[in-house]
Amino acid sequence: MSTLQPTLELRGIKKTFGHVSALKGVDLAAYSGEVLAIVGDNGAGKSSLIRTISGVYRPDEGAILVEGEQQAFSNPAAARAAGIATVFQDLALIEVLDVATNMFIGQYPRRGPFVRRKAMEREARAFLDELGVSVASVRTEIGMLSGGQRQIVAIARAMRTGGQVVLLDEPTAALGVRETAQAADMIRTLRERGNAVIVVSHDMSLVFELADSIQVMRLGEVAGVRRRTDTTRDEIIGLITGAITGDRLTA
Ligand SMILES: Nc1ncnc2c1ncn2[C@@H]1O[C@H](COP(=O)(O)OP(=O)(O)OP(=O)(O)O)[C@@H](O)[C@H]1O
Ligand SMILES: [Mg+2]
Repeated sequence: MSTLQPTLELRGIKKTFGHVSALKGVDLAAYSGEVLAIVGDNGAGKSSLIRTISGVYRPDEGAILVEGEQQAFSNPAAARAAGIATVFQDLALIEVLDVATNMFIGQYPRRGPFVRRKAMEREARAFLDELGVSVASVRTEIGMLSGGQRQIVAIARAMRTGGQVVLLDEPTAALGVRETAQAADMIRTLRERGNAVIVVSHDMSLVFELADSIQVMRLGEVAGVRRRTDTTRDEIIGLITGAITGDRLTA
């Protein structure tokens, strides 16, 4: 694996908000066909990291490379254009629009100035069916769905936009048992498709079920990165809490 070029690489990313150092020089490597889990306590910098990769925040220092090429995203649209699809912790779905429209935001199929509504609905339906997602109608307004169903639609949208990198920030936090299993299946599908998948999660069962690698964040730094098969829950929890000293500090 280490001989392969990462699909996404971060080098020395720093980000401060006033007096708060949210990211203090973060490295990361995500590979095609793998799931990288990012774990850490509340405030460790996980969402700041996701927002930096997805163009919401500009890093103060450091480099973002996609397929080995350095990138500077001035906004989320620029990151999307470079193949980075994101499901944010605070879902960016538009409540008054329906399921199909949300899935195609910014990419409506058009004929001249007109959105091809029927084609869009057909494609959205076919895509959700293929994923086994149970939404009664793609004309349902997002605001009428449960939190869990919205989350599934947001993941489906990220899958449909088909970036080579897919970022998911707490994708299962609001989900019931059945929907969590469905989200896990969707993440496996992304991996099988050859995407580099990054999942932020507090759910250790999900992390150990899905991840190929686990990166632990602590107080804005990387406390450690482990292959899932080379670590244990106890070690990961120790790295999260600081009971086990991070790699950076022992180096
Ligand atoms: N836009 C912002 N303005 C000011 N401070 C911020 C901003 N975004 C994040 N922070 C601060 O940066 C630190 C890291 O926050 P972040 O949201 O990245 O943590 P997290 O690991 O995602 O936490 P959680 O598990 O609770 O989602 C926190 O101290 C937070 O208050
Ligand atoms: Mg967060």
